[in-house]
Amino acid sequence: MITLRDCVLLLFLTLSPLFSVSAWTSTPFNPPSYPLAVRSPYLSAWLPSGGSGVALNSAWPQFWTGTTVGWAGFVKVDNASYSFLGDPVVSGAVFTKATQLSAQFTSTQSIFIFTAGPVQITVTFLSPIEPTDFVKQSLPLSYLSVSAVPTDGSSHSVSVYTDISGEWLTSNDTLAINWTTTTGDVLSHQSQLQTQTVYTESSDRILQGSVYYSTQNIAGTTYQTGQDIVVRAQFLNNGVLSNTQDTNFRAVSNEWPVFAFARSLGTVTTSSSQTALFSVGHVRDPVTKYIQNDGNTFQARSYYFWSTYSTIADAISAFLIDYSAALARAKALDLKLQIASQGISSAYADIVALSMRQTFGATELTISGSPGAWNTSDVLMFIKEISSDGNLNTVDIIMPAWPGFMYLNPTLGKYLLLPLLQYQATGQYPNPWAVHDLGGTLDFGSIGDLSLIIYAGSPIANGHNLGADEHMPVEESGNMINMILDYTQRTGDTSVATRYSGLLTQWANYLVANTLFPADQLSTTDFAGSLPNQTNLAIKGIIAIKAMSVISNKYLNNAASASSYSSTADSFLNTWQSFGISSDKSHLVLEYGNQSTKVLAYNLAMDKVLGLNFIPASITSLQSTHYANNLEKYGFPIDSRTAYTSSQWMIWAATTTSTSVRDDFISAIHSWLSSGLTSTPYGDRFEDDSGSNSPNKNRPVVGGNLALLLI
Ligand SMILES: *[C@@H]1O[C@H](CO)[C@@H](O)[C@H](O)[C@H]1NC(C)=O
Ligand SMILES: *[C@@H]1O[C@H](CO)[C@@H](O)[C@H](O)[C@H]1NC(C)=O
Ligand SMILES: *[C@@H]1O[C@H](CO)[C@@H](O)[C@H](O)[C@H]1NC(C)=O
Ligand SMILES: *[C@@H]1O[C@H](CO)[C@@H](O)[C@H](O)[C@H]1NC(C)=O
Ligand SMILES: *[C@@H]1O[C@H](CO)[C@@H](O)[C@H](O)[C@H]1NC(C)=O
Ligand SMILES: *[C@@H]1O[C@H](CO)[C@@H](O)[C@H](O)[C@H]1NC(C)=O
Repeated sequence: MITLRDCVLLLFLTLSPLFSVSAWTSTPFNPPSYPLAVRSPYLSAWLPSGGSGVALNSAWPQFWTGTTVGWAGFVKVDNASYSFLGDPVVSGAVFTKATQLSAQFTSTQSIFIFTAGPVQITVTFLSPIEPTDFVKQSLPLSYLSVSAVPTDGSSHSVSVYTDISGEWLTSNDTLAINWTTTTGDVLSHQSQLQTQTVYTESSDRILQGSVYYSTQNIAGTTYQTGQDIVVRAQFLNNGVLSNTQDTNFRAVSNEWPVFAFARSLGTVTTSSSQTALFSVGHVRDPVTKYIQNDGNTFQARSYYFWSTYSTIADAISAFLIDYSAALARAKALDLKLQIASQGISSAYADIVALSMRQTFGATELTISGSPGAWNTSDVLMFIKEISSDGNLNTVDIIMPAWPGFMYLNPTLGKYLLLPLLQYQATGQYPNPWAVHDLGGTLDFGSIGDLSLIIYAGSPIANGHNLGADEHMPVEESGNMINMILDYTQRTGDTSVATRYSGLLTQWANYLVANTLFPADQLSTTDFAGSLPNQTNLAIKGIIAIKAMSVISNKYLNNAASASSYSSTADSFLNTWQSFGISSDKSHLVLEYGNQSTKVLAYNLAMDKVLGLNFIPASITSLQSTHYANNLEKYGFPIDSRTAYTSSQWMIWAATTTSTSVRDDFISAIHSWLSSGLTSTPYGDRFEDDSGSNSPNKNRPVVGGNLALLLI
């Protein structure tokens, strides 16, 4: 029997797709998740926005893993209260949700505009990308600004409230935290886990360091710490906070302590919009420990910004004072990327814009030394292999992400590679090929002492003295040589090539002996398993041998080696063509001789990026046609073993295709990103037909989406 209720339900279900179209505009489109505060592997707050979109005040922000990070915001306009951030419930107080009018993302900002009664408020999340200022780039801090302007021509009294919870420290709500508020020119709530464990993660959160929520102590600012519903009700009912601190330290979810500010914007008029500014950060010292020559000592490394600020309070104060200049720089960076990528297409510009904070948000710029004696000549950039693995400075993560750094400041490429080069130059890595990463989640303790293996958690750059890293011999050896040539050509700085010529030669010789018929091994797409004789892997190594001939000739002053590497590469290329091209000459096969296979041959791209002019046009041309004839809804599969495709590898491959295939690849990625199928931070691997997302998310490899800007 069909009841009236069923009919109503049926009608609702039938019509609901219409109602689910969001009422606000999304510019340039509604992404899976908006970056809100994304500046380090541990300062990573996002607004999940799957389906047809989620308003900023209809869900709690999340850490990139998907756990909640409490971040609430209200405005009081005259006597009415509206929420604009998070999804709080406050008994004993009245408020409504402000109406979201628009949501926008750029490379550095996410901007939400609301109507709150007679006032329009603009909420801007700015996570700066400062590619050439290492002090600023290394500050793990992000801005929230809230401005208000009347829409009815009248003047209105406006106050802004915001708080954060202990969920910015941990995903485990039962952990005990403590906190304190400092007052001075800056009001700052500092909170931390009561039990700290240096260099150790749990569920991708770091069990070390402090979260700071801060604002300038200007007239009309009040603060309070205490239970969420109490502090929020205090603002909603009174418009101000009590300037009191709760000192009953407890677990994150035990009467949910929150750290709050309220700022009166006074009376806003059409001609005088007012802004409230806050900063949020996650800071720890040291950042990581780095293996030294003897394998038994580790150097503690700290954020680069300590070379300029002696206290975190000074750093936060400078960050807040710098806001308008930072915003101007951010807009200039947004515009630069927009203009450059718009030259390819507007869909491409959208993909680039969504990639930037995620790319830089996996990195941390460090120096060695100690207070008063920092060594700013010793800069190392660490990058975390987020979500697929916790490793530091994975070579086949740096390599796909490489264009993001090369385009904005190639010097950063050196600081990403140096940790790997310095470590391998000590001779502690026992294998003849290039190491996969600088440190995994196992701490091997003293060299060779297996009894000391303990779970250590990232981030430790402890090397792989047992040689027990994830072996990708041809992949990583080829990547290192190719990236070093690219860095050297772009910067003219020959110091890396000359200083590490021994390693380069070792890896090039390894490739000469091993890349033409690669043994059964993994390549960067390790999820698909190992395979011998991978066509796409072999060509990476062959291109690297050609690259080594350029390095030998131009930078190492060794004409004999140059000529030998060059003729080896030429002869390998001929043989490679006879094995790698299908017998019907229609495409490259995944595995030599296996006619039923295909592959996304993204490794051909390095020839273009390096300007080698080595790969014959006949190869890229047949592959381009093959892509055009075999494109699925969301792209071309990584290879015939899988339905997964990869966004950055499609963009890398697009450097070698026809313009129309390039545009098809871009359009496939754009369709996937705007499909509403997922609500995680940008996932770089998804099924070409169903669009189903892999576990990959928030990985810095999306920096590879800038590859088209490098050629
Ligand atoms: C706001 O509330 C206060 C106290 O309840 C009252 O005095 C005032 O008139 C109200 N203002 C407006 C604009 O409603
Ligand atoms: C959370 O922390 C508690 C200690 O407060 C610990 O017993 C528990 O195992 C932790 N849970 C997880 C999922 O790590
Ligand atoms: C909070 O806990 C940290 C880490 O245990 C400790 O160093 C600090 O003194 C504590 N702060 C307060 C205010 O209790
Ligand atoms: C600073 O770092 C540079 C580069 O690593 C190194 O050569 C120099 O010895 C260091 N200086 C000190 C004082 O440690
Ligand atoms: C790779 O291909 C060559 C040429 O077909 C073959 O001789 C060799 O056995 C293959 N290697 C492996 C590991 O299968
Ligand atoms: C060819 O590749 C397909 C797909 O990867 C695989 O199933 C098949 O076993 C391969 N054939 C040979 C002869 O290796």
